[in-house]
Amino acid sequence: MSIYLDNAATSFPKPENVYQAVIDAMREVGASPGRGGHRRSLEAGRIMFMARETVAGLFSIPDSSRIIFTHNATGALNLALHGILTAGDHVVTTSMEHNSLLRPLHALQNTGVEVTIVEAGSDGLVSPDDVKSAIRSNTRMIAVGHVSNVCGAIQPIRQLSAACHDAGALFLLDAAQSAGYVEIDVMSSEIDLLAAPGHKGLLGPPGTGLLYVAPHVELKPIVEGGTGTSSTSLEQPLMMPDGYEAGTHNLPGIAGLKAGIEFILERGIDTIMQHERSLITEATKMLSTINGIKFYGPVDPAKRGAVLSFNVDGIDASMLAAELDHDFDIAVRAGLHCAPLAHRTIGSMPGGTLRMSPGWSSTLEEIAIFSDAVVQCVSKIKGSM
Ligand code: ALA
Repeated sequence: MSIYLDNAATSFPKPENVYQAVIDAMREVGASPGRGGHRRSLEAGRIMFMARETVAGLFSIPDSSRIIFTHNATGALNLALHGILTAGDHVVTTSMEHNSLLRPLHALQNTGVEVTIVEAGSDGLVSPDDVKSAIRSNTRMIAVGHVSNVCGAIQPIRQLSAACHDAGALFLLDAAQSAGYVEIDVMSSEIDLLAAPGHKGLLGPPGTGLLYVAPHVELKPIVEGGTGTSSTSLEQPLMMPDGYEAGTHNLPGIAGLKAGIEFILERGIDTIMQHERSLITEATKMLSTINGIKFYGPVDPAKRGAVLSFNVDGIDASMLAAELDHDFDIAVRAGLHCAPLAHRTIGSMPGGTLRMSPGWSSTLEEIAIFSDAVVQCVSKIKGSM
């Protein structure tokens, strides 16, 4: 029995309607949206529009034209950061961020953007007061990951966005691990920019992502090219969303993403969250019997997303993950998860942690097999030392 518990990296399996939507877009439609007047191109355009409307429905976005499709959350974050920040701007972020946010910020620092990294607690939670204290007169943006991909900590985004708006700054939320797991309402949470992957909790195919941009935000495109509009001008059009989606779209991917979100809406986001949360709770209980096990992240299940990170004293997390794969065909991810500062914060540098992340289709039986396999692998590794 093959068990996939690496949904924080990308979700698998996808619901059946996602596979079907991808095939239909390739086989039955086949054309590029906005790149022709024939019926196939019009149908492709209709799918794009309906996909945008579906995303808008999920995140309570009033105007779906404010949603830009990207190739992943990294693309969305790069667009938001490079498309807004200029020399002299100050950004507040946290020590729990993924390199998809930290690396573009680091590159921008070399162009004169100032960055403050607020240290989270050892449970991965960021204090809104610490974020407030970091705000300066030139703070242009607060950029925060909603749920830590390392330890699952769910940040208090309403308090953070309130602090941000008191300072007249923009609030960028990296929803890489929360979209599809936690209810997100861009209006009530006052989110100015929302970056999300399509292939994780939204259950779409790889190669999909999105950026929501609130109407008052001015954004510079970071990729220029054909948009199917304003073709006589050599200037990149700033029209939303076309001006920010230059080049041929990933129509099959976006059709699959639409189907993934439809599945989530049908099942209920709260049902999915409760299911995954209960599996994390059960896994924690089962693994607790292992001598020397240390869990990371908030103890309160209500403050954590669907990832469980841990280490066993004296055992290399990557070796344990390799044994789980080799002996039991269980997929988990070990190491630094592209978030080195987060590991430093929670105290798991340099080896990182072993992270297991269940998904919508994971079962309690799989969690029991996984927990038993961890026990066996720990004993095997200890025996060979
Ligand atoms: N950011 C993804 C992860 O945490 C890829 O695995």
